[in-house]
Amino acid sequence: MSPLPPGRLRCEYLVEPLGVDTASPRLSWLVESPVRGDRSKAFHVLVSSAPELLRGDIGDFLDTGMTEADGAASLEYGGEALLSCARYFWKVRWWDREGQVSPWSEPASFVTGFLNPGDWKPKWIAPRTVAEFRSKGTVLLGHPGADDVQACAVYVRREFALKDKERAALAMIFISGLGHYELRLNGRKVGTSVLDPGWTDYRKKALYASHDVTGLVRDRNAVGVILGNGRHTKSYGYDGPKLTCRIEVEYESGEREVLFSDESWKTSDGPLQENGLYFGERYDARILIDGWDQPGFDDGAWDRAVPASGCPLVSQMMPPVRVTESLAPRSVRRLPSGAAIFDFGQNFSGWTRLKVEGPMGAEVRLRHAELLNEDGTLNLGPNENAEATDVYILRGGRPEVYEPKFTYHGFRYVEMTGYPGEPGPEALEGLFVHSDVERTGEFRSSNGLIDGIHKNVLWGQLSNLMSIPTDCPQRDERHGWLGDAHLSAEEAVFNFDMAAFYTKFLDDIRLAQKEDGSLPDVVPPYLPRLYPADPAWSSAYATLVELLWDYYGDRRVIAAHYASLKRYIDFLGRSADRNIIRSLGKYGDWCPPGGIVPKKTPVDLTSTWYYYHDVLILARLAVVLGRGEEAQQYTRLAGSIKSAFNDAFLGETQYAAIRVSPVDTYPNQTSNALPLYLDMVPDDRKDKVVASLVQSVVRQQDYHVDTGILGTRYILDVLTEAGELEAAYRMATHKSYPGWGYMLAEDATTLWERWEKLTGHAMNSQNHIMLGSIDAWFYRVLAGLSPLLPGWKAVRVRPHVPGDLASVEARVDTVAGRVGAAWQRTGDAFSLEVAIPVGATGEIHVPLLWHGSRIFESGKMLWRAGHSVDTVPEIALAGDDGKRVVFKVGSGAYKFEMKK
Ligand code: BGC
Repeated sequence: MSPLPPGRLRCEYLVEPLGVDTASPRLSWLVESPVRGDRSKAFHVLVSSAPELLRGDIGDFLDTGMTEADGAASLEYGGEALLSCARYFWKVRWWDREGQVSPWSEPASFVTGFLNPGDWKPKWIAPRTVAEFRSKGTVLLGHPGADDVQACAVYVRREFALKDKERAALAMIFISGLGHYELRLNGRKVGTSVLDPGWTDYRKKALYASHDVTGLVRDRNAVGVILGNGRHTKSYGYDGPKLTCRIEVEYESGEREVLFSDESWKTSDGPLQENGLYFGERYDARILIDGWDQPGFDDGAWDRAVPASGCPLVSQMMPPVRVTESLAPRSVRRLPSGAAIFDFGQNFSGWTRLKVEGPMGAEVRLRHAELLNEDGTLNLGPNENAEATDVYILRGGRPEVYEPKFTYHGFRYVEMTGYPGEPGPEALEGLFVHSDVERTGEFRSSNGLIDGIHKNVLWGQLSNLMSIPTDCPQRDERHGWLGDAHLSAEEAVFNFDMAAFYTKFLDDIRLAQKEDGSLPDVVPPYLPRLYPADPAWSSAYATLVELLWDYYGDRRVIAAHYASLKRYIDFLGRSADRNIIRSLGKYGDWCPPGGIVPKKTPVDLTSTWYYYHDVLILARLAVVLGRGEEAQQYTRLAGSIKSAFNDAFLGETQYAAIRVSPVDTYPNQTSNALPLYLDMVPDDRKDKVVASLVQSVVRQQDYHVDTGILGTRYILDVLTEAGELEAAYRMATHKSYPGWGYMLAEDATTLWERWEKLTGHAMNSQNHIMLGSIDAWFYRVLAGLSPLLPGWKAVRVRPHVPGDLASVEARVDTVAGRVGAAWQRTGDAFSLEVAIPVGATGEIHVPLLWHGSRIFESGKMLWRAGHSVDTVPEIALAGDDGKRVVFKVGSGAYKFEMKK
């Protein structure tokens, strides 16, 4: 039988991407095989300029012929030079281990964007005048900003005709509109993305999106664009709304017609007026300009656009922000004031869609909040300065539907006032809005509490992906805080395909770097005073690069950032005082129980630890790039930092803690967990430090965390590795304060910013993701999945079986294919099913649960009392340490069974 055709064809991590702007895009696919130990021996890729050519097996741009694969299922394009703004079609077939060839895959395609800097020709244009409004400014970490002066939304239009619509082979609109835009063609919204383009520092780059409108164009067309503010505001130092757009039609004959944005485009104001990310929107439907985005509209009264200054453009090569889910209200309750309170039963990022009918001029107000007060009114405390209010003024006389375009909120509850009549649940629909990254991981266990935490992490993580990783969706922040980003990143890559998203974010970090090598706490650096960053925050740079290497095998990202990472490490080096960083720490082990600022963990300790952490990563990346000498140099530097760290912070039995009184001699969890995590503790004191940590966890805190966000990221791993699995499990699953189970017990539907249940006007977001790292522990430790070689070419399955846990099941769709682990135990039996993708190998650690256990696979006894008994092809016994038996396997599905 011939092998199955390859599937999941991707280009630059994306399915059928539009706007590919690299000259040698990476093509990848997956192969599956029922045969254990199968491997892709060779592949054959064709890239063609037309579907007919591809159908005829002609790759006029690339024909690799049968190419030695050595297990790989990806290729960096190296064919004929790709042209800008053209569609390419491709397919692939593979040869299995036996040398049998598969049928061709289904065809896939990609459309290029602008491959050379000069290729983008259109002007940036702006309205001649813009109406402005004032909204509350941001108060950040105690620094009040001035009021925000923002622009009312701008409507832009242009008509164009096509020579011969019937023969249009490809019609594309490439567009960037700042801060955000909505693109319309012939009266309809184009595409499904919202809040485009993704956030960037517009001094350095703006993203353009590429839309295929081949099915939407007619002979006479009108393109309409609405421009909103987003982050492109004066308070961040940017000018007003502007846009650049290129419409390009390619006919079957190969002839092209192009239209650029220029002064012939017309602008006006319109019904959408005030709009701001934090503030909300004000939409006056009485001012509706019927037909403005249709051909034939009389725009005689509209202004001509004027040229505007621009900024470099880069294609938006990541999943866009979209509405991904609709939520029906769980309940609607009327308050004595007449306001209606809608409860969506879930905290999330997004907005609501209003359905209303009533008299002209009726004004419906929708205010969003995460919590209610005891009397049932909205608790606006956690919103801080964000008004989070959408106002819709009815045109009247017919059913009307409204949803905002240029704002979003973090909420569970909505207060509605001014609704004509009695609002029922159908009046409002909740729309979940976030970067539409693909879900690639599933986790489930026999413990409902763990599954509840996992679910809250998923909602929290998605709520905080808004073209950048954000800290929270509800208050007047929603910034790319680097600490929050990296602490939750491993959990994110287990759950979602983050490769394209983080690739874009890493470029944002690179662009945010200052001449002196320093990085900001927040990226894009909308808040310029946040330089230089706390090293525990800017560690996101090295951490994310390494994560893309481990989880996606992405070497290109290392090459792209290595030089900037070096400059960053040099900056840290210059800031250090004999290898100890004393000057850069700010937040440190942020938000420990009972406070915001670190209580017990010295910031010098966390800053220096992250310096060490990042230097280790750099040394590793240098090896990947073949820079042996630099690798040695960084390894030596790491050694010096480690010694300095231990000299400065290690006592007889424990690492330094901030002491509040002479009787406070208790060990601190974070101070001890961090050096244990990186194996920095000298051998002769390791047991003592572990004992100190355990003493704090077990004796002083009764299995509760006493860690802020930094310690929390590592403590479960450290306890597990130190042989304290049961302590880690209890810490993860108890229900009292402080802990994740406590949040659940208090009705949280996402994770909080603080361990405490706080509901006042303070830093107490109900939807932060920085404590979400526990979810990676579920996948990596409970299910036991981790990449042993970059890009999951080798998979380690090393499940842990703590406490009362009876079963765990996880799968991750990795770049190498599906990886899975599912275990179950009863009183006298344990089974572990694993899935290893074609081309990969597995290292399976079967935990020995009972003295005298035997291990079977395919009905054969593979292990008893330290020896292999039978043999099964593709399974090799690699040894045991009395606690686990390790097998090496090839690709495929296996079920190991242990009997008492
Ligand atoms: C944010 C955090 C962030 C922190 C920096 C807060 O206001 O919401 O999540 O990391 O500031 O200390």
